[in-house]
Amino acid sequence: MHAQRSGPLRPKVLITRKIFEESIAHLARHCDVDANQRDVPLTPHELIRKLQGKQGAITLLTDTISDAVLARCPDLKIVSNVAVGFNNLDVKAATERGVMMTNTPGVLDDTTADFTWCLILAASRGLVDADRYFRSGRWKGWGLMQFLGRDIHGKTLGICGLGRIGRRVAKRAKGFDMRVLYTGRTRAPEKLERELGAAFVDKRTLLKESDIVTLHVPLTPDTTHYISTAELTLMKPTAVLVNTSRGPVVDEKALVRALREGRIASAGLDVYEREPRPASGLTRLKNVVLAPHIGSASMETRLRMSNMAAENCVAGLTGRRPPNLLNPQVLKGKYKRFTKVTPEQK
Ligand code: DGY
Repeated sequence: MHAQRSGPLRPKVLITRKIFEESIAHLARHCDVDANQRDVPLTPHELIRKLQGKQGAITLLTDTISDAVLARCPDLKIVSNVAVGFNNLDVKAATERGVMMTNTPGVLDDTTADFTWCLILAASRGLVDADRYFRSGRWKGWGLMQFLGRDIHGKTLGICGLGRIGRRVAKRAKGFDMRVLYTGRTRAPEKLERELGAAFVDKRTLLKESDIVTLHVPLTPDTTHYISTAELTLMKPTAVLVNTSRGPVVDEKALVRALREGRIASAGLDVYEREPRPASGLTRLKNVVLAPHIGSASMETRLRMSNMAAENCVAGLTGRRPPNLLNPQVLKGKYKRFTKVTPEQK
């Protein structure tokens, strides 16, 4: 339980799902907190009901905050998402309604890059399948031809999206003496390319030449099914695909077909098109490593994300500018009339 002081001027905040106690304590110093400490998302109906009358919300990526939700919660001033990705938030609608929205950038990049490498290594060397085999008691001793995976060192790594996480994945490739290609909407500065030893190529070249393709693009209408049948067909039959970005970036049904038919060798996935449900047939495949969206799940990083979201929320509700404001337009211009703006927030 959290000590709650009540008072007419204290803003009310809903925490939609379990977060760290330390973050709740910070919120409770400034706000009256209604915390769902179950680690299960609220239903859409419960979410709206609990948000009504609240000025702040700490949301997780499993909560959808659409225009319809915002319309029914007119007291909301800030929605603070505990994630860097914010495809679960309708930022445009929030801006039009004068509601601040925030995310947690920067703190999870290294952790997610580390995990991307877990998947690259596990999917290339068949680690999970080998572990299952060992545990089953079927292993009768060493054999030259057992569990033959593919080398990673000296190969070509293709990074789609050289943003904060993509860059850290590239940096780690140096230890494996890899050739690094990248593609994306914009080319990185030459200095960065030199530092990372990464060469800019078009998407087609990257798919054709890479031994490992790893995805680090944000989910937008343009990147939905960024990898589908045509792209999988361009990849080498020995290639590995890794996705730690967002599920809908990959056409999961097309991936299941490609893995089943051996059109690519293997995949490592942390995210899914319709979480928590995998596409039909995915879990029956041996050549895929499946993680339950844990790319940023280290103790240190998840705590930082949770505290950062609490700090964004408290800032927004106590007249300061939230450090990670996604829609600064709400503090100025035509939207300002909806938001109570203090001099510190401008
Ligand atoms: C994010 O922050 O967007 C991750 O997917 C959740 O850790």
